[in-house]
Amino acid sequence: MAQLWGGRFTKETDRLVYNFNASISFDQKFFRQDVEGSVAHVKMLAKQGILTEDEKAQILEGLEGILRDVESGKLEITDAYEDIHSFVEANLIDRIGDAGKKLHTGRSRNDQVALDMKLYIRHEVMEINNLLKGLLETIIAIMEENTETYMPGFTHLQKAQPITLAHHLGAYFEMFKRDRQRLDDIYDRMNYCPLGSGALAGTTYPLDRAYTAQLLDFNGPTLNSMDSVADRDYVIELLSALSTIMMHLSRFSEEIIIWNSNEYHFVEIDDAYSTGSSIMPQKKNPDIAELVRGKTGRVYGALMSILTTMKGIPLAYNKDMQEDKELTFDAIDTVKGCVALFTGMLKTLKFNKDVMRVSAMKGFTNATDAADYLVNHGVPFRDAHGIIGRLVLYCIEQDKAIDELSLDELKAISPVFEQDLYEAVSLETCVNKRMTVGAPGPDAMQEVIRINREYLNFT
Ligand code: ARG
Repeated sequence: MAQLWGGRFTKETDRLVYNFNASISFDQKFFRQDVEGSVAHVKMLAKQGILTEDEKAQILEGLEGILRDVESGKLEITDAYEDIHSFVEANLIDRIGDAGKKLHTGRSRNDQVALDMKLYIRHEVMEINNLLKGLLETIIAIMEENTETYMPGFTHLQKAQPITLAHHLGAYFEMFKRDRQRLDDIYDRMNYCPLGSGALAGTTYPLDRAYTAQLLDFNGPTLNSMDSVADRDYVIELLSALSTIMMHLSRFSEEIIIWNSNEYHFVEIDDAYSTGSSIMPQKKNPDIAELVRGKTGRVYGALMSILTTMKGIPLAYNKDMQEDKELTFDAIDTVKGCVALFTGMLKTLKFNKDVMRVSAMKGFTNATDAADYLVNHGVPFRDAHGIIGRLVLYCIEQDKAIDELSLDELKAISPVFEQDLYEAVSLETCVNKRMTVGAPGPDAMQEVIRINREYLNFT
């Protein structure tokens, strides 16, 4: 049991207490960040004359050695240490002796752990941002190919109006684009260095906190030492952004599951991304999409958990905050896995364009356009709505689509109908005439694709 704080104690820590309190099993995840923070701290201490150049050189060499040996597997991180901070410091002292005992000058584990967590999250935010970029590249490639692939658009999961595959996927493009912007915001807001805040009240050493911040690529030091060690807003913001990413992935997964069902048959998930049944030989199941949908709950759980943990904590540091780690690590790993797998599944997804087209032609998705036809011929919209309602009823009785009726049948319902009605309510016209910004018309879509391609080139 290696601890940093034995001095004022007369008894050994109870074994169960030690285990309950220790965090090494999970905070070893930011071992590299812990060393990186120590390196910057030591450089700053030497610059300020708090350590000699010789002490600095010894400590830096020792830290590099520890990093190297852990990475090569020569040195193992074990639960003999309370946490990763103790592991690094104890090993440093083992290696270089007295100089190692000066590493923790002007520092507390409270500002150290806040720094480690920020460094770790900062790195992961960039990784997730890049993974999302890969997903967006995949989406836009499908969009470019499918500006004239017709499909029904739904409201209430009822066929509403015809759209295109490019348009439908374009909605997800916007969602994941906002997700990336949220990650950028989090990065910027959290990018202030807590190191040098000490346990809560700063330190009496003449630290140059701005210099440490600069060495670690932060925008500057945090401005209140109590807040520096007690703040976990960046964890909450991250988990909120990750929850939103999962919510988007989950909605998309749900649609793929529906589209992949025998009834819809809009898509076919690639064999490499499907699984079978142990009993039913015919089955090919969308398990990956289902798991992504399922894992959303676990990321939401992490957000609820940290919000609840933080709500009653008085200033400044309290051990409750150690609970931020496992759930954050788990949420990050979950999201990274889900985005990567989902991207692969989407890339290999086969779209049954003919089935989608036939489906778009059924279900009266052109009823709004038929009403618009009457409006364009002088019928007030409310009257047109009623006429088309009766027309749809007639079609249902006859088991026909609007454009399958003869002109005589149409005229019996409204004399305003002429031959050009057929052209006006065709699938192509319905979609192509929707040309406002953000609408599915291929010209409008091309412009949006151009804007989003440019966005991808610059972010
Ligand atoms: N393992 C601790 C955590 O994760 C590190 C900070 C410990 N500080 C303390 N005063 N006990 O929060």
